Amino acid sequence: MSTAALRGMPLIERYRDFLPVTDATPVISMGEGATPLVRLDKLSECLELDVHVKLEGLNPTGSFKDRGMCFAMSKAVEEGATAVICASTGNTSAAAAAYAARAGLTCAVIIPGGKIALGKLAQALIYGAKVLAVDGNFDDALRIVRELSENHPIALVNSLNPYRLEGQKTAAFEVCDALGDAPDVLCIPVGNAGNISAYWMGFGEYRQAGRSTRLPRMMGFQADGSAPLVRGEVVTSPETIATAIRIGNPVRGEQALQAMNDSAGGVDAVTDDEILSAYRMLAASEGVFCEPSSASSVAGLIKAQAAGRFTPGERVVCVLTGNGLKDPDTAIAQSGGVIEIPAQYAAAEKALYGD
Ligand code: F0G
Repeated sequence: MSTAALRGMPLIERYRDFLPVTDATPVISMGEGATPLVRLDKLSECLELDVHVKLEGLNPTGSFKDRGMCFAMSKAVEEGATAVICASTGNTSAAAAAYAARAGLTCAVIIPGGKIALGKLAQALIYGAKVLAVDGNFDDALRIVRELSENHPIALVNSLNPYRLEGQKTAAFEVCDALGDAPDVLCIPVGNAGNISAYWMGFGEYRQAGRSTRLPRMMGFQADGSAPLVRGEVVTSPETIATAIRIGNPVRGEQALQAMNDSAGGVDAVTDDEILSAYRMLAASEGVFCEPSSASSVAGLIKAQAAGRFTPGERVVCVLTGNGLKDPDTAIAQSGGVIEIPAQYAAAEKALYGD
């Protein structure tokens, strides 16, 4: 079936055979997944590689989190939950709030105060979640929600929840289906390290099932100021403009390192300048608007290519995890300003063509 035909079909139905679903599992869905895989012609030519991006920002709430959240929410309902909770740098809270609203569950989210993008905050609020902002970072928020979920009947839907990864692994299936097999390399941003772990599971399971023949090298990228896996230690005060991956103590860190190791890939850090440069280039040269954290996958690819990590012509997929519209403040700050003119033809002509 074509991507167009698949779009709108619940992800749980599409990949039922690969998911721990029972007859009792309700299907809570908004038509997530089946996102486009787009070739970047200019970047491919420039890097002498075959570069594609997976546009996960086209999911219902604008990020890859919907893949895992539809499934985690379905299982929470199956298990009788009436409330869910998560810590979040923004996207998980948006997805949890939306899918909880759809499932009729109450939702609480804990976010790092002042450190999530405007669009994500707007989403969590309008979907009706109870939003708590802590005077701390994501790692603090996660510590608190873990304890709350142990002491109260409220289901944790962070990527500690195994169903989140089960849902998210379906993106790897789609990449294989779109390309006819797994790519040579997958470049992906790493925050709490759930998504890279999920992709690795997905590539492994697809090959096991005979639906693909090989496995990609998994290359994970963290922001320089929040790079615990690169440094090999917890970062107590993570900092980066890429707020979605501003995480100093990733819960799935070990699993992610294993994936990168087993696949002969690796982990590296990219600076905020490298991230923003890739972010602007993707929009202005390829017409692809992702959020800054997502651009770290492309920034990492560019850095790795400069270090000679690829053979010419290799096929690379970069995961663009979230939609650029999530973070209008960064987009505006990174762009040329608006030119204000009087409402007259001559003024417009002068502004565009000079005197
Ligand atoms: N990209 C975006 C846009 C994200 O929102 C996240 C994580 C990641 C990449 C990293 O994925 O954590 O699985 O390694 N966002 C989480 C959140 C932490 O709360 O929304 P990861």
